[in-house]
Amino acid sequence: MRTLWQHCHAATMAQGSYSIIEDAAIVSSAGLIEWIGPRGELPTLEIDRTVDLNGAWVTPGLIDCHTHAVFGGNRSGEFEQRLQGVSYAEIAAQGGGIASTVRATRAASEDALFASARQRVQALMRDGVTAIEIKSGYGLDLANERKMLRVVRRLAEELPVAVRATCLAAHALPPEYAGRADDYIAHICDEMLPALAEEGLVDAVDAFCEHLAFSPDQVERVFIKARELGLPVKLHAEQLSSLHGSSLAARYQALSADHLEFMTEDDAIAMAKAGTVAVLLPGAFYFLRETQLPPMDALRRHGVRIALASDLNPGTSPGLSLRLMLNMGCTLFRMTPEEALAGVTLHAAMALGLGASHGSLEPGKAADFVAWRIERPADLAYWLGGDLPKRIVRMGHEISN
Ligand code: NIG
Ligand code: FE
Repeated sequence: MRTLWQHCHAATMAQGSYSIIEDAAIVSSAGLIEWIGPRGELPTLEIDRTVDLNGAWVTPGLIDCHTHAVFGGNRSGEFEQRLQGVSYAEIAAQGGGIASTVRATRAASEDALFASARQRVQALMRDGVTAIEIKSGYGLDLANERKMLRVVRRLAEELPVAVRATCLAAHALPPEYAGRADDYIAHICDEMLPALAEEGLVDAVDAFCEHLAFSPDQVERVFIKARELGLPVKLHAEQLSSLHGSSLAARYQALSADHLEFMTEDDAIAMAKAGTVAVLLPGAFYFLRETQLPPMDALRRHGVRIALASDLNPGTSPGLSLRLMLNMGCTLFRMTPEEALAGVTLHAAMALGLGASHGSLEPGKAADFVAWRIERPADLAYWLGGDLPKRIVRMGHEISN
């Protein structure tokens, strides 16, 4: 089935810039983009179906490359505490924070986790998201990490969205390993990762490198095991302090290093050399009322690719709109709307290892795109969330939203 989509303008995001085609035509077939260009140059092809997009702006489907969308409970009580002046780190030290979501996630059934995550992923999809990464990391033992990752796989089966599953067993120290972080890391490397990888539940491995989580040495042991298992790595790095986790991630050719507010220029140089994407998370920056900005100039100067994501999670970023993150990337981090859009399309695809197949409108890539009823591409970063009129196409088929 070959479909022609016409009467539209396209921001193709090829090479990470708008690369605008006015009065564009797109031909999709077998779930892929077969041809895209100015309508006047459309080659002679046998077309089965023509769709009139009524002057819409077409962009690649949005990609949320960093979420913790599967979790039990929520932490609005901690939000209230933080508003009264208690810090994220203090709450964590008192047994709240990630540990409280671990308790709620362990207590929840797989079906209950699926039902709540499904709603959150659907909220993101209504905002034009056609691909998403979801991390484990609230189970912290084999059975519960497996439960979370099975939910992630099930979301991919039941929703029209591409899903990448990341194992974040090294997110926090589970209570049964209190005072024995090295033993927990050994357990991750010797038992959890091999088993979960063997079951086909893991596409990438992540860790949280921070004083209140794991040291660079401990993270490196997880990376060595991931490499042995043939899995790419990512890292939560430099969110609250500078431990040079992002340089470590670059040494292991990480797909991405994420957060990065406290990274240094040398970290940026290392990431640029390795092709490691910088995933910025303005929702967490905003929600924790942080003040240290990621070093945008250094990232740009050294040519590090910059992605933006929701970091959807119950503690630091209960964000259900990726477009809101576009706005925050611009207002809080001083990104341009064009950089922000590249950050949720091509660069987000690269942060997931999907750069060859997703993230821009180019022949041979997935026919995942959104036709927005907007006046210009910058409108996507301009509105503060809300429901923009749009048509969403995944693998060449329109999905309802
Ligand atoms: O990306 N930084 C660590 N992990 C999450 C927060 C998880 C939580 O607080 O539940 C983040 O911000
Ligand atoms: Fe995160």
